[in-house]
Amino acid sequence: MKQLLIVFAIIQLVTITAGYSQNIPLNWRSVAAGVWKVKIGQPQKFDLLRTANIHPRIETLRNLGERNFPLLKEECHAELQNGKIYLRFPLEKEEQLFGLGLNFKTINQRGRIMTLHVDHYNGIDNGRTHAPVPFYVSTKGYGVLVNSAEYITVYAGTGIRVNSKHPPKVYNRNTDKNWEAQPYSDAVEILVPANGTEVYVFAGNNTMEVVQRYNLYNGGGVLPPKWGLGFTQRVPTLSTEDDIRKEVADFKEHHFPLDFIGLEPGWQTKSYPCTFEWDTTRFSNPADFVREMKDSGLRLNLWLNPYLSPSSSLYQELKPVSGSHTVWNGLVPDFNVEKARKIYKSLFSKEHIDIGISGYKIDEVDGYDNWLWPDVATFPSGITAMQMRQTFGLQMQKMTSEWFKEKNTRTYGLVRASNAGASSFPYVIYNDYYNHRDFITALCNSGFIGVLWTPEVRSSATAEEWLRRMQSVCFSPMAMLNAWSDGTKPWSYPEVSKQVMEVATLRMQLLPYIYNCFAQYYFEGKPPVRAMNLEEGFSFSPKQFTAEINSVTNPYALATREDVKDQFMLGDYLLVAPMFAGDKKRKVVLPQGKWYNFYTGEYAGKGEIIEIEPGLDNIPLYVKDGGIVPMIPPVLHAPTPGETLPLELRHYGESKGSISLYDDDGETFNYKKGNYMRYSFSATKDSDGKWIGKEEIFNKNKMTQQYKNFSWKFMAGDKK
Ligand code: GAL
Repeated sequence: MKQLLIVFAIIQLVTITAGYSQNIPLNWRSVAAGVWKVKIGQPQKFDLLRTANIHPRIETLRNLGERNFPLLKEECHAELQNGKIYLRFPLEKEEQLFGLGLNFKTINQRGRIMTLHVDHYNGIDNGRTHAPVPFYVSTKGYGVLVNSAEYITVYAGTGIRVNSKHPPKVYNRNTDKNWEAQPYSDAVEILVPANGTEVYVFAGNNTMEVVQRYNLYNGGGVLPPKWGLGFTQRVPTLSTEDDIRKEVADFKEHHFPLDFIGLEPGWQTKSYPCTFEWDTTRFSNPADFVREMKDSGLRLNLWLNPYLSPSSSLYQELKPVSGSHTVWNGLVPDFNVEKARKIYKSLFSKEHIDIGISGYKIDEVDGYDNWLWPDVATFPSGITAMQMRQTFGLQMQKMTSEWFKEKNTRTYGLVRASNAGASSFPYVIYNDYYNHRDFITALCNSGFIGVLWTPEVRSSATAEEWLRRMQSVCFSPMAMLNAWSDGTKPWSYPEVSKQVMEVATLRMQLLPYIYNCFAQYYFEGKPPVRAMNLEEGFSFSPKQFTAEINSVTNPYALATREDVKDQFMLGDYLLVAPMFAGDKKRKVVLPQGKWYNFYTGEYAGKGEIIEIEPGLDNIPLYVKDGGIVPMIPPVLHAPTPGETLPLELRHYGESKGSISLYDDDGETFNYKKGNYMRYSFSATKDSDGKWIGKEEIFNKNKMTQQYKNFSWKFMAGDKK
C-alpha cells in the first residue's frame, strides 16, 4: 500500500513538473450533515480554514438535517494543468450566485470574473476587496468554498466551452435582436494557481440554509459583548487623556449614548510603524485612565497596524521571525511562527489587555500593493507572500481574539482584512471608501460570506447626508462615528442633531432585538444582517444580462442587472430601507406576506414594490406580519450585568407571532457552557378577537434576569 502511494506521488510530481494535464477524480467526503469536502491534488499547507482554526459545530449541523449532495457529481470537474488546478461546477440557466467576497456594487455575481485578492476596495467589484472570500451561494440551494489562500480566479458563469452540454443559442447579430455579448454559460470555472486545494460544498433547502451551514461549519457566528452593540466614537489622532475626558463629558452633556471610545494613532509612542507602547506624554498613567473610563461605563479600543517600529525594544528579537520586507520600515511578523505570536502576546497583554483595554482596530492588513510586502517577499514559516496577504487579517483576528478568550472576556473590534473561516471572529470590517450607497451594498453582501461590516460615519457635505449616514450606521453591526481626522461629533450638524439623537436612541432601545440577532448567528448560523436574497418569500428575480447596442457609449455594453442592493433585513423581522442624501423617495421591495411600518404599525404592502416618501426624520423600517420587536427604554449604555430593565414588546400585523429572546451576562464566554436563558413571547387573539401577549421564562441556570416588567404594544391596534 505504502509503495503504491509512493508510485502515485511520483507520477503526480512528474505530471506537475512536466506540464501534463490530468483529470482528477473527485472523492467527495461527508464532513458534517449537508457538508462535503474533497481534496484535489496536493492541497497547500497554508489555507484559509486552517489559518482561521475553525471548530465546526457538527452537532448543530446535524440538527439542521441531512441533505443530498446538491450538485450533479458527474458535472463537477477538476484537472491539473501545468501545476495549476482547473475547477468546474455546473450552472443552470436560472441560477443566481451570491458571495465571492465583500462586494460594494453588485449582489448577483453571475456573469462576473473575479480574481480574489485581499486589498483595499477601489471602486470595482473585481475580486480585490477586504474580504475576498472564495465562497458562493446559489439560488439552487448549495454553496461552494475553495479553501485556498492563493489569488484564485473565478469565472462565475462566463466561459463557454466548445464541448458544452448546454451550449447557448447561436444568434446572427445582423438580424437578431436577441444576440448577446455574453451568451449563457453553463459553468462556474475556477483557476487555482497551485497544484492542489480543498473544496467544500454546502447544501440547503434555500440560500439561508446554505449560509447557515457555512457559518456553523466555521464555528457559528460571533456573539459580541453587549457593550459592543452600543454607540462608539473614535477620537481624533493625537488625542490626549484630557481630550478624551472632555469628549466623554460632551457626550454626557448631550445625553448621547456611548459605550466605547476608539483611540486612533497618537496613543503609542510611534506609529506607522508601531511600538504598541503608550505615549506617556499623552497618557500619563494608562492603567489608571482605562480604569477611570471603565468606572464611568466606557471601554477603550486601540487602533494599530501590526508592523513593528525599529525603535521598539523587541525589534531585534522579532527580526528572525518576520518577513524579508518591511512595511513603512516596520517588521512584518510571521504569526505562523510561535515565537512571533509569543512576542506580541506578552507585549499586548502587558500594555493593553491586562490593564483592561477592550479590543483593537486592526488597520492596514489589506493593501494597497504599493505599501504592503510584495509578492516576492519571503517568510520564515515558508508561507508565500501571496498566502500571507490572503490570511494576514485572519491571523490577527484569530490571535487577538484568543487572548481575550483566555481571560473569559469578550472583545469586539475592527479589522480591514478578512477571509473565509471568519464567522466566529469578533471583528467588523470597515474601510476608507466613503460611498454611502455602496456601503449599504457591502452590508447586504457581508451576510453571504460570514463577515460583519460597518458603514462608518466620518463627515458629510451636508446635514442631510450626515443624518442619512447616521441612520444607516445605527442599523449595522457597529454603530460607529470614526472622527479620527475631522473630530466630528454626533451633534456636529445642528439642523439634524435631534434626528441623529433619535436614531441613536432607537438603536439602544432595540439592543435586546439586535443582541438576539447575533445569538441567532451563533446558535443557528443566520447572519444578523441579511441581503434580501436570503429572505424567504423574496421572489424578485433580476434581469439576465442583455446586450445594449449603443454606438455612442460602448456597442457591446452589458445592461446592469437589477440587484436589490439598497435594503436589507436585520434579523427575522426588520426590513431596513436606508435613505440617501438628495433622495426624497425610494422604492422598497417587500417580500411575500404582509409588511407593516415600524413606527406607526400601518400596513405597508405585501409581495410588491412600493414607493415611499418618508421625510427626513426616520430611516424607513418595516416589520414582517406577526413580528415581535422587544425594546428597552432609552439608555445611554448597553445593559450591564446585574442591571434590570423593563421590556416593551411590540407586535405587528394581523398574524399571531412569537419570539424566543436570548439573554446571558453579555460579557463572558459562560454561554458556551450553557449559562444563558431565554424568554418566549407570543401574541395571540382571544375568543373576542382581542390581542393578548404571553411571556414565559426559561432560566434553568437561575441567571440574573435582566428584563422584568413586560408591557405589550399591539401596533396594528386592537381590531376586532
Ligand atoms: C486609516 C484608517 C482610518 C484611520 C486612519 C488613521 O488607515 O482606515 O480609519 O484609522 O488610518 O491614521
